[in-house]
Amino acid sequence: MVERLLANEVRLQGRSVVSLKDWSPTEIKQVLMTAKWMKANPKVAEIQYALKGKSVAMIFELPSTRTRVSFQVAIQSLGAAPVILDWQDSQLGRGEPIEDTARVLSRYVEALVVRARNHQMVQTLQKWATIPVFNALTDAAHPFQVLADALTIWEHVGYLSGAKLAYVGDGNNMANSYMIIGAKLGMHVRVACPVEWSPAADVVAYAQQEAEMTGGSIQVMTDPEQAVFGAEAVATDVFVSMGNEDSDAKRSQLAPYQVNAQLMAKAKPTAIFLHCLPAHRGEEVTEEVLEGRQSVVFDEAENRLHVQKSVLYHTLSEF
Ligand code: CP
Ligand code: NVA
Repeated sequence: MVERLLANEVRLQGRSVVSLKDWSPTEIKQVLMTAKWMKANPKVAEIQYALKGKSVAMIFELPSTRTRVSFQVAIQSLGAAPVILDWQDSQLGRGEPIEDTARVLSRYVEALVVRARNHQMVQTLQKWATIPVFNALTDAAHPFQVLADALTIWEHVGYLSGAKLAYVGDGNNMANSYMIIGAKLGMHVRVACPVEWSPAADVVAYAQQEAEMTGGSIQVMTDPEQAVFGAEAVATDVFVSMGNEDSDAKRSQLAPYQVNAQLMAKAKPTAIFLHCLPAHRGEEVTEEVLEGRQSVVFDEAENRLHVQKSVLYHTLSEF
């Protein structure tokens, strides 16, 4: 069964996931197909022992519940050992250069999972490491989250190419990553943000260029209703990301971008609601929408585990 699943696979051994910019549409689709298969077949022995004898280090500079637990469980469920470093208790917290940390850890473990404030830090880590580096969130990107979201859209909407996704709120790491994965998968992505909180112009330009090759489209606008109109999936994220918690002015500028029942009514009646969590009820989303019939946020959270297992398997197994 495993052989059949992987018969036509693309080879991904040794690859990092710092941004999905580095991954082709075919590679992303392969990861999603394997994730779907692994979700349906969690107990297949070849999968359970695929990474036996290997170790994966996890370093978090910022708090995490889903990413930390789902990566740890994903690593263990493939037979590998997670090695969890506390940022402050490691020498990183005392200023040891990331270049040195990358080279040292590469001598001990087979991969690094890193959550960092600054995207450049993860890029530097990748440059100096001789093993795959997996971005567990930076200020610029959250690639594993949008892989999970794509799997969730595939499961609930039924297809990815041509699917209409609206993202409403802060033009942050999630907005960037939705545009990139949407472009790669031929989706129509509309992002609605206030001008001051628009996503990075270089990411928008990159995603628009990619979308031209896949039949998708990327539009950035200020009107949330226009973005959500006819959408099959509506997503939002916190108004203020980790590390910037004090920004009350930003919260009030983003208040008109709340996803509530009135806004959801502009989407397709069958539209799903996505949020990477943690959510602030009454801020970027109402309790009614988050807990309502269209919300698939807990399937989305679960899918973190399956896409991470898939990426770990493809990049680290000897298959
Ligand atoms: N969605 C997400 O990355 O959650 P955590 O911050 O809990 O890992
Ligand atoms: N944009 C949020 C996502 C949290 C999972 C943040 O960076 O804090």
